[in-house]
Parts: sequence; structure tokens; C-alpha cells
Amino acid sequence: MPTPATLDALLVEERVFRPAPATVIEANVKPAELAEAYRLAEADPCAYWEQAALELEWHRKWDAVLDDSRAPHYRWFPGARGNIVHNALDRHVHIWTKNKLALIWEGEAGDCRKFTYFELYREVNRFACALRALGVSRGDRVCLYMPPVPETVVAMLATAKIGAVHVFVFAGYSAKFLRERINDAEAKVLVTADGFYRGGRCINLKTVVDEALEGVRGDAAETVVVVRRTGDDIDMREPRDLYYHDLLRQESPEAATEIMEAGEPLFWLPTSGTTGRPKSVVHDHGGYMVGAHHTFRTVFDIKPTDIHFCTADPGWITGHTYGVYGPLLTGATVILYEGHPLYPQADRLPAIIERYGATIFYATPTLVRMLMRYGPQYPKKRDLSTLRLLGSVGEPLSPEAWMWFYKHIGRSNCPVLDTWWQTETGMAMLSPMPISVLKPGSVGKALPGVAADVVDAAGAPVPPGQGGFLVLRKPWPGMFSGLAGDEEGYREAYWEKIPGAYFAGDVARRDEDGYYWIQGRADDVLNIAGHRLGTAEIEAALCAHRFVAEAAVIGVPDKIKGEVAKAFVVADPAWTGAFPDADALAADLRGHLRRELGPIVILRGVELRETLPRTRSGKILRRALRAEELGEPYEYRSDAEE
Ligand code: WT7
Repeated sequence: MPTPATLDALLVEERVFRPAPATVIEANVKPAELAEAYRLAEADPCAYWEQAALELEWHRKWDAVLDDSRAPHYRWFPGARGNIVHNALDRHVHIWTKNKLALIWEGEAGDCRKFTYFELYREVNRFACALRALGVSRGDRVCLYMPPVPETVVAMLATAKIGAVHVFVFAGYSAKFLRERINDAEAKVLVTADGFYRGGRCINLKTVVDEALEGVRGDAAETVVVVRRTGDDIDMREPRDLYYHDLLRQESPEAATEIMEAGEPLFWLPTSGTTGRPKSVVHDHGGYMVGAHHTFRTVFDIKPTDIHFCTADPGWITGHTYGVYGPLLTGATVILYEGHPLYPQADRLPAIIERYGATIFYATPTLVRMLMRYGPQYPKKRDLSTLRLLGSVGEPLSPEAWMWFYKHIGRSNCPVLDTWWQTETGMAMLSPMPISVLKPGSVGKALPGVAADVVDAAGAPVPPGQGGFLVLRKPWPGMFSGLAGDEEGYREAYWEKIPGAYFAGDVARRDEDGYYWIQGRADDVLNIAGHRLGTAEIEAALCAHRFVAEAAVIGVPDKIKGEVAKAFVVADPAWTGAFPDADALAADLRGHLRRELGPIVILRGVELRETLPRTRSGKILRRALRAEELGEPYEYRSDAEE
């Protein structure tokens, strides 16, 4: 019989993996350099980040590296001028990367399109000219509701090139969600596609757009640019809707790049928080560029020969930073795949790695668990020998999944880099480097220049091995510059929870060696297959149903998705007149949630209740519901929950 002490030891992951000598010899950042980076970043963080900024081209250099006089409104590289697209695209057409592949795209049906840097440059310029002709100028917002197709990358870069701001709404969101984001952004133009292929089906996006634009405020989305992808018969409304290909035909392949101040916005990206409304995280041209470039070059160890396969949709921050900007800033080749990862069968991702000779595979724990379920025979069918690095992001990667990934995708030969970061951080913050000693299940140490800590509610560091709140004590260049139109929310949600630090919203522990282990969210935010969803947002959506009086949503563990939502609903008694039974009502609620938020909310169950447990001040006790659901003990803590 194991004693409690040995049981504890069994729960602690003790395996370590050392880097192969060749990896160390060839790494962009070798052990002595990494030690020096930590030393410099510790002694003089601004000097460290200044070095990183000097790796890029600027129209004008900064007056200072960091202006923290209005903290927490930090300004990186004030006085500097440039444009991220100059570094991501323009400069490549004057150097050897000109005719190198920038983008390899594979459609779900197996069709393939490739763009060299020069070709991508010309296409982006054409679209930049078209956007200018549509009246879009510096500072204007352009909303993107796009599937993973090459034109998505083109639209992002063209928008940024003319100094406008892209606001990406992931194509899995509903018409209602899209409409609200268009309204929030007062977007001038919406770029979309007729549809795309996923899971063997043709998904029509244009009908969602048409629905979203009914009732959009004022003159928002006056023009809709539609990329023809599926060739489906869609409703084109004149004069609002224009085909992308028609627009581009007469445009010049040369366009001037707008010179931006470093602090001017590059994009907004909606994400979930603890309130009923999503927030739009704002990133700028200067700091974000430095963060994306530096981390991609060092953590992903980019070499001229690398072919980077990032499975994230361009519509998420991972797609923005390490699917588009990071790869192009470093002159790498990136693979973008349109469809479902298991279509037509479970070897699709390995097949893509084999077909294009991918050297880096950046995926999510949900994908790893999906592949695990089908078994190693699928990756075994494919030649994965070109791979040299594996990456994971978005959710905790358990030691078991880590080992499977390492063994069956990485052939026990590739470091697994579990990178922790957020939409707000813009760049990887905690991560091993290729030369690091790896511990399965850990996201490694804080990267140089990143001042992470694990603290209690008062902000005091907790001892090694103990759980606490993950915070960041110093600003970093990739950081968001704020929440669009919500100064108060910015301070309140991130900078006032823990004195003197950025509150990430995660629970973590740090071991004796300084390795971090992420345990999950500390707030009421769910992580469904790596997608962040606020329980308050789902509850608000449920409450918009005609028969829902009250709703509470909790996260419950799921073998593949990591976590899924479960809803507890107090229904208006009149529901019995409209539905034959509770199952029918639940089915209607599911459909309702899909329409309100989109298919990204995965709901395990809907349970009808007479009442919901509440604190004395009336807040829903989600923790009590969760404890009951999981059969765990629960104790009411009036101090913590009021
Ligand atoms: C939240 C941020 C930026 C990547 C995509 C998600 C969770 C992120 C990890 C990781 C465990 C992780 C955290 C974080 N998360 N990376 N390696 N291990 N959890 O971006 O939608 O802004 O969500 O994702 O909970 O706070 P996001």
C-alpha cells in the first residue's frame, strides 16, 4: 500500500529530458548566450529589449525604450516610427528571401497554393490599394470574418500596411457576435469569404455576414469585400458587396507603406473575460513587432530552412503572432491549413507535415489528445523525419499527452516547447527554449525579460511548489496597450487585482528549479479546446432565451476538449406550454446558444433547477455547482465569495 507521502511523490512529475548535443550546438541561443540574456534582462530590462528592437528595421529610432510615466499605460519605443509590414514583407523583396516561400496553404480538399515573399508582397499591395480606394485610411478599423485561406493573411497585412487596424472575428462566432464587434469597432469595411470547407462540409459564411449586417449601427461595414473560396451561390447586395478578385484586378502591385508611430494600434482582438461582454485587446505596431519577432526567433529557433506549421486559425492570437507576423518577420515559411484536423482521417496533420517537410509543428493539447485517441498508427504512416521542434499552447498539456506528442509525433527526437501566453501578452512569456532541460507537463521558466511570479491574494510570493496566482511584475514589449474603449476595465481586470503586478487570471505553481506548472484559470473563464469563453458571457446568452429566468454555467472536464460547459437553468414555468419535455427545451437552448455565440461553445448538458445557489449578496455560487457536479466536497467561504 502506498503511504500518503509516496502518493504525493507519484503525483509529482519527475522525468526530465535533456537536449541533444546537436540541438545545443546549432541553437540560435546557446547556453552561454541564454545565461547572458538572463543576466542582462535582469540587470537592465530596457537594454535587453532595445537589443531585440535593433534586430528590426525602423523608419526612425525611439527616444526611449519604455515610457512608464503613465503606468499601467506603458508605451514601448516612444518616438519610434515604422510599420510591422515593412519588416514582415517589404524588406524581404530587397534581400535573398524575395523568392523564398512565405506561405504554403492547403485546402481541405487537398488543393494547394503557394506564395513567395515577392508574390505575397504584390498581392498585399493590390489589396492595400483597393482598401485605400474604398476610403480606408490610417486608424480606421477593418473587420475580418475569414476562414483560414491565403487572402486572410493578405487582408491582415494590407490593413496594417495602410495604417488601418484589423479586428478579426473568428469564423466560428455567430452573426450576433460579429454584429456586436462590427458595431464596437465602427468598422468601415468587412472582409469575408463566401465560405470554406471543414469536415467534408461546405460552410457558408456569407449568410452569417448578411444576418450580422441586418441592424448593424449607422454606416458601419458600408462595404463588404467577399473572397470567392467555395464558388457557392451567394447573395451579393449592391452596392455594398464587392468581390475581392474583381477589386484587385485593376490595382497596382505597389503601394506605399504608412509610417506609424510605434504606439499606434495594429489590431484589436476580441476575447472573453469575466464580464458578460467580450473585450477587445489592442496591440500596437512597435512593441508587438519586437515581441513577436524576438520570441519567434529565439524560442522557435528559426533558421532560414524552417517550415513552420502552426495549426491555430489566423483569427486567434496564436495565429496572429506565430502563424502570420512572427514567421514573416523572421523570413520563415509558414503552413496554413484550411480544414478539420482529422479529415478525411486521423493522419491529416502528419500528412501535411510529410508533404511540405515541416520542421516545426505548433499545435494544441486538444489536437494532441485527438491524435492520441486514434492511436500512433496514423502518424506512423507518415514520414515525420523533417520535424525538429514541437510546440504546444492554449491549455495545460498533461505529462501523458506530452509524452505521446514527444514519442509519436516527435519520434523521441524533438524538444516539446509548451508555451504559456495570452491574447493580452501578445507573445510567449513562459516557455522552454530548444536547449532547455524539459519536464513533461511544465511550461518551463519565464523567458529572459519576463518577470513572472506566483503570489497569494495579497501579492506576496508563495513558496516553491505551492499554488498561487500567476502574475507579471514588469512590462514587456508584446503587451497589449489596452482594451478598446474600456480604460476602466483595463485597470480593474489586470492591474488592480494584485498590487503592483499584471494579473494573468491563471493559477500556477513554480518548482524549486523555477519551472512553472499551469493549473488552470483562477477566474470564471472556461477553456474549451483552447478557446477562452467567459461563463458570464454564456450565461448572458442563455438568459436571452425567452424561457430562461436564470442561468449558471460551469466548466466540467472533458477527455478531448479539456473542458466543456455545463448549464444550470431556472426556466420560466411557461416553457411547459411550448415544449413537450425538458429534453426538447434543452435542445432548443443548444440551438439558441449556437445562434447567440456560435459553435465554439461546447455544451455538455443542460440541467433544469428550481433555484440556483447564491451568496448572501446574490452572486451565483458556481463553485458549489461545480463541486456538486464533480462529487467534490464544498465549503461556503463567505469571505471569499461575497
Ligand atoms: C489562456 C489564454 C496565447 C495562446 C492561446 C490562448 C491558457 C495558454 C497555456 C499553456 C496552460 C495555457 C491560460 C491563459 N493557456 N497557454 N501552455 N498551458 N494553459 O490565448 O485565448 O488569450 O487564453 O490560455 O489559461 O490564461 P487566450
